[in-house]
Amino acid sequence: MKYDYLVVGAGLFGSVFVNEAKKRGKNCLVIDKRNHIGGNIYCESIDGINVHKYGAHIFHTNNEVVWQYINKFAKFNNYINSPIASYKNELYNLPFNMNTFSKMWNIKTPSQAKAIIEEQIRELSITEPSNLEEQALSLVGRDVYEKLVKGYTEKQWGRACTELPAFIIKRLPLRFTYDNNYFDDRYQGIPIGGYTPIVEKMLSGVEVRLNTDYFDFIEFEKDCASKTIFTGMIDSFFGYKLGYLEYRSLNFEHKRLECDNYQGNAVVNYTEREVPYTRIIEHKHFEFGKQPTTVISTEYPSEWKPGDDPYYPVNNNKNDALYAKYTRLAEAESNVIFGGRLGSYKYYDMDKVINSALEAIALEFGDYTV
Ligand code: FDA
Repeated sequence: MKYDYLVVGAGLFGSVFVNEAKKRGKNCLVIDKRNHIGGNIYCESIDGINVHKYGAHIFHTNNEVVWQYINKFAKFNNYINSPIASYKNELYNLPFNMNTFSKMWNIKTPSQAKAIIEEQIRELSITEPSNLEEQALSLVGRDVYEKLVKGYTEKQWGRACTELPAFIIKRLPLRFTYDNNYFDDRYQGIPIGGYTPIVEKMLSGVEVRLNTDYFDFIEFEKDCASKTIFTGMIDSFFGYKLGYLEYRSLNFEHKRLECDNYQGNAVVNYTEREVPYTRIIEHKHFEFGKQPTTVISTEYPSEWKPGDDPYYPVNNNKNDALYAKYTRLAEAESNVIFGGRLGSYKYYDMDKVINSALEAIALEFGDYTV
């Protein structure tokens, strides 16, 4: 065979796998149906601004091994994600913290904030939440729910919170300090120069064919590799023969503007239902950019249908049961490794994807050490 591994998908999972296989002297061919490498972490430079073409990507992790690993491919800046929520004409800090509460109720101390939230939760007297609305109300009370949770969640899921199951929201963390850092993780930042150079380094010296869909490719080159690493949708691999797994999708509208600072923050969430988009990202703020122009991306959540870009797996009972059936088919494919967020049908952050690719390497070669 010409190659040891055919890697389907030049995203983060495929690229980490290739980089490690390459170090072990293996010959890989990477194919991707898109016209660029990087999958969803792909960045495009516009006026010197690294634009995250598939949504804001902030690297954050508690995993020391993963942090050491990714730092071999890039230097990270000290960006801290501190999103703003816009509700009607009001602006609030996220995550829900003392800055949010003091603005909402004109109070100062944690005990005042706790008393208001507890009072609102008590008044509702919800014992067993029967839908997402009741679940969220019983966690944060009426004001935070109405202004910051309800509209945003309804846009994300395309349905009223009363029609969504309670389990979607398990926790809504409330922070009683004046701390706007969205993530609790020890390590956080944005790679200086964007994410694409990371993937370029991982894939350097490896043959990559873009605009190449696996299902067209294997018609002619079925036996080109001993093993396949498949990071596309697991149900697509099996021709959807057990049914379609469901996703939520997103449409991105990217705009270059002739101004140096459009919204003063990288991430602004729009939490009212009437505004059709959920977020506006101003990319230059991820890297503290000083360019005279700016680029913004508006995110519109949408219903997924076959052929659309799949972004968020809908991990409800029905889909998880279907995925379990596909994994049984996958187990019978001894020369195929399924990985990444589409191959595993899981919402994985980047650190989890790197970790799972390194686990796949350890299983394959039995020797992974950082
Ligand atoms: P990914 O989807 O990136 O790559 C799969 C590749 O396979 C794609 O390039 C695709 O074209 C290709 N492919 C699929 N089918 C194929 C076929 N049939 N033939 C050929 N090629 C095929 N994480 C985080 O840590 N911090 C963050 O802030 C964010 N933000 C964020 C925002 C949004 C909107 C999303 C959707 C996701 C995030 N993430 C994130 C998650 C992050 O994007 C994710 O962890 C990685 O990009 C997943 O890498 P994969 O390689 O698994 O998939």
